[in-house]
Order: sequence, then structure tokens, then C-alpha cells
Amino acid sequence: MTDKSRLLKALAREPVDTTPVWMMRQAGRYLPEYRALRERAGSFMALCQDPEAACEITLQPLARFDLDAAILFSDILTIPAAMGLGLHFVPGEGPHFDCPLRTPADIDGVRAPDIETELGYVAAAVELTKRELNGRAPLIGFAGSPWTLATYMVEGGPSKIYRHIKALAYDEPNALHRLLGLLADTTAAYLNAQIRAGADAVQIFDTWGGTLSTSAFEAFSLAYIRRIIQGLDPAPVIVFTKGGGGWLELLAASGAHALGLDQTVDIGHARQRVGDRVALQGNADPALLYARPDAIRREVRAIIRRYGEHPGHIFNLGHGVTPEVEPDRVAALVDAVHEYSAR
Ligand code: CP3
Repeated sequence: MTDKSRLLKALAREPVDTTPVWMMRQAGRYLPEYRALRERAGSFMALCQDPEAACEITLQPLARFDLDAAILFSDILTIPAAMGLGLHFVPGEGPHFDCPLRTPADIDGVRAPDIETELGYVAAAVELTKRELNGRAPLIGFAGSPWTLATYMVEGGPSKIYRHIKALAYDEPNALHRLLGLLADTTAAYLNAQIRAGADAVQIFDTWGGTLSTSAFEAFSLAYIRRIIQGLDPAPVIVFTKGGGGWLELLAASGAHALGLDQTVDIGHARQRVGDRVALQGNADPALLYARPDAIRREVRAIIRRYGEHPGHIFNLGHGVTPEVEPDRVAALVDAVHEYSAR
């Protein structure tokens, strides 16, 4: 991109003409054109592993909405899948691993995947998508945080109580640290492959960081997020810890350029707490998209006002777009952001 986009300016905390907006899970099941492709492909992972399909799906929301960024269509579980844990997506239930890691011996049996050969499809999708975007919008690459990946790998799938990973953290912390270290180093290499292929920024999704106590968050999640950031080529990094509102000062010192906020945080208070240290991304309640356009517009305006006149705001949801959302509500939100933030 010759002219720096709104997103990249906001990530650098430079002034913008209007607040940039994108949405976590902006490509996906709420779009009929995604569902049609998904039906033909048969499986979600087949779509992720096909650069042409991943590129097409990445661009689908940009064809409909005036979004300020594309996010690569892929998944955080590509890394554990490449580590040989046997990943399936069970309809209605989510991801499932055939070989969950429950013991130190299980963990010591895990090998690092070769990023170029086993995960080369991700960099190929980035390259193709960058070519197709042709400078229209920046492309965000992403990965899961080591703690979030480990949660799926140890539980074997989604969990409400995190019984196995929490027991492992208390009973076998050294084994868990070995797994988290391996995941951090693999993730840094994986994100660097995306950056070298053309990703303009990267986001680390720490979806389950917020389930930890403060000291456990620092030891098992934040330490490895920091290790990833230290290993990255130059590129803006966004860290999204869902439920991390109590730790914004810690997160602002992680090396991240921006923090993603979930909807439980008042973005004005968040800004007071982090000051000029990082940009802030967020944070409309994802359920706002079930409301009518007039309510969506009011809430968008309130969030923009709460953030205030400072540079460094990237509008987003507090978590991903859900499959039940009507696409015209996404349009209402995107347009309201540009309208109410125009300088
Ligand atoms: O944001 C985007 O539009 C880019 C694509 C993207 C997907 N997953 C596509 C997807 C991104 C950034 C992710 C990240 C991801 N994946 C996270 C972190 C963000 C978050 O929501 O907390 C997590 C925890 C996962 C793991 C995962 N992948 C789950 C739990 C599921 C099943 C349930 C669900 O939320 O859909 C997936 C599958 C998945 N990832 C789908 C999509 C479009 C649905 C697959 C399908 O059935 O078609």
C-alpha cells in the first residue's frame, strides 16, 4: 500500500479521517455466500487449506460492506492440526481432537510442525489475497495465543470448566510450560510466514486467557504472548484477551501495538488506563447486531464518544460476529462508524 490505510494509521496512533472498522469473524456463517461455498467444499478445514477458497471467503465481506480491513479466512487450530492431534469439526459442537494431550508424556510426544511444508497453505492464501486486494484494504493475519491453543489441545474440544488444562497447570506446570514454549515458538514462525507473505498486521486471539487468575494469566498466557511478539518481524500486533479487562496495564506492556477489548470494558476508562501506550480495538457487544439499525447507530455513536478525540481507535465487536446475524445489520454498524467518527 502506498498511502497508509486508516487501519495502519490507527494502529500507529496517527490521526485518521474516520475511525477504521472491521469485525472479528467478519467472514463466515452469517453470509449466505459463505454457506454456499462451505456446502460444496464439505468441510471447514478443506476451505482453510485451499488458498483460492480462503482468498474468496476473505474478500466476501469486503464486497458487501465498507470495511477498513480484511482478515484472512483460516483458523487458530491450524497449528494443533499440523501437530497431528487429529482435528475434526463436529457440527453443532465445534472443534474436536482425537488425541488430546493429558499427561506430560503426551506433551513430550508432540513435535513442531514444519511451517513451510505443513502450513504453507496459509502463507499461500495470504499471498493470493494480497494480490487480489491490490491495495484496497490491509490484510490482517492471525494466530491463537499459546494458552488458548493448549486449552483446546488438552481438553480435546470446547470446555465450560477447563478441568483438564487447569489440573495440568497446577499438577504438572513444567510439562505445560514445555507445551506453551513449543506453541509460542511455532506461532512466532507461523506469524512471520504470514508477515513475509504480505500480512499488514497480525492479531493474537487469546480467547481463553480470561479464564485464568491474574498470576496464572501472567505465567501461562501473557508470558508466551510476549515471547511471540519478541520473535516477530516488524508488523503491528493486536492482542485480544477476551475477559482481560482487569489486565490492560499488563497487556499494554506486552509489546503489543493495540489491545482488543471485549464489551465488558468501558472503552473510555480503558483509554485512561493505557494512555498513549497502545491503540484500542473494540468494543460493541456482538449481540448489538441482533438489534434494529437505529439501536445499532445509537450504540456505535456512544462508543465513539466514550473513546473520545484521541487517535488510536479501531472499531470492532467485543467478540466475533455470530451465525444468526442478518448481514444488513453489519452494514448499519460499519456505516454508522464512518458517519459518526468523520473528522
Ligand atoms: O475472523 C474471521 O472472519 C477470520 C476467520 C476466523 C475463523 N476462526 C473462521 C471460522 C478466525 C479469526 C477464527 C479464530 C478462532 N477459531 C478462534 C478465536 C476467535 C474467537 O472466536 O474466540 C477460536 C477460538 C477458533 C476455534 C474454532 N473454530 C471454533 C470454536 C469453531 C467452531 C465454532 C465457531 O465459532 O464457529 C471454529 C470453526 C470456524 N472458524 C468457523 C469459521 C468461519 C465455522 C466453520 C463452519 O462450520 O463453517
